[in-house]
Amino acid sequence: MRVLSYGRQYIDDDDIAAVVAVLKGDWLTQGPSVSAFEKAFEDYTGAKHAVSFANGTAALHGAYFAAGVEPGDEVLTTPMTFAATGNGALYLGGSVTFADIDPETLCLDPKKAEEKITPATRVIAPVSFAGYPVDLAPFKKLAEKQGAVIIEDGCHALGAMRGGVPAGREADLTVFSFHPVKHITTGEGGMVVTNSDEFARRLRLFRTHGITKDPAEMEEAPDGPWSTEMQALGFNYRLSDIHASLGLSQMKKLDSFTARRREIAALYDELLSGISGVKTPPATEGHAYHLYPLRVEAGRRAEFMTKLREKGVAGMVHYLPLHLHLYYRRNFGWKKGDFPEAEAFYSEEISLPMFYGLSDDEVRRVAGEIREIAESRG
Ligand SMILES: Cc1ncc(COP(=O)(O)O)c(C=O)c1O
Repeated sequence: MRVLSYGRQYIDDDDIAAVVAVLKGDWLTQGPSVSAFEKAFEDYTGAKHAVSFANGTAALHGAYFAAGVEPGDEVLTTPMTFAATGNGALYLGGSVTFADIDPETLCLDPKKAEEKITPATRVIAPVSFAGYPVDLAPFKKLAEKQGAVIIEDGCHALGAMRGGVPAGREADLTVFSFHPVKHITTGEGGMVVTNSDEFARRLRLFRTHGITKDPAEMEEAPDGPWSTEMQALGFNYRLSDIHASLGLSQMKKLDSFTARRREIAALYDELLSGISGVKTPPATEGHAYHLYPLRVEAGRRAEFMTKLREKGVAGMVHYLPLHLHLYYRRNFGWKKGDFPEAEAFYSEEISLPMFYGLSDDEVRRVAGEIREIAESRG
């Protein structure tokens, strides 16, 4: 019986062949696989520009830079997210503020977000938590009033749909991650998509040290055809061709990866919905199911985790609300009780195994263990 983690990659012989071909070729980085991967991403999402990054965190950092975040600016987001959603703003000297989640979606609550808008709000950054495609319409209204930019942290949401359209077109900028537990992987990797030429230009500048080689973009007359111009303090955040070749190959399987995740979620829903003391996650059209976040009684969460691990089911908890991380409490004064819905969810949550290679029998095995623990008491 294999140990089931909450997520894992799926790599086949085509993926391996694609990477080997790049290793045997001329370009390990800054070559044609990067542009081909970006093009495939533009085609899939329907966004005008896709700009790849070394990882999702770098991609978020780039998106905040593109949006113009600087000292004095605030980024408003959900506490129910990974640290990178806030950290990307801090790297630029901005500050992070939060509004609580809507327990019906587990995503940023637009009404609570409205109360937190200030004249300094530069970015509103909703997260499509677990792959639930957060409704961006109310945030767009808020952003329009305030003159803020919408950055969707879509790191859980590749393959998610809104009205039959893939996530990635609605926000000003949408950020994805290709960590191995995500829908497709490049080992490490990330992408920002946008319809704005100006945001795309700033993203490309930021990921290559803030240096442009394009004479048409230079502010000063070039010395010659060799000239480059550093216009901003950027980083080396490039994705290599080795990584991009894996991403390009994985993109061909994205639809089947997502379809299987939805099947697994439907089977969990069916098997778990009648069990007392557990609550299945919110379902909605177009959910991409990066995670399957089950809620159990808060007082029994540790018992569930321990007993599941004894049976070879390695659940995970997503997330300690970001405002409760030591760094955020110590430096910004956030405390327990600030965001009760996110905190209640955290105390009850277990992410069950959810990945393409999980079989129906394994889903039944996990659900059977949950039932047994729920009914055993103590
Ligand atoms: C919501 C969210 N934002 C950002 C990130 C950062 O992505 P990466 O791990 O590729 O840097 C992750 C990945 O774990 C994430 O889940």
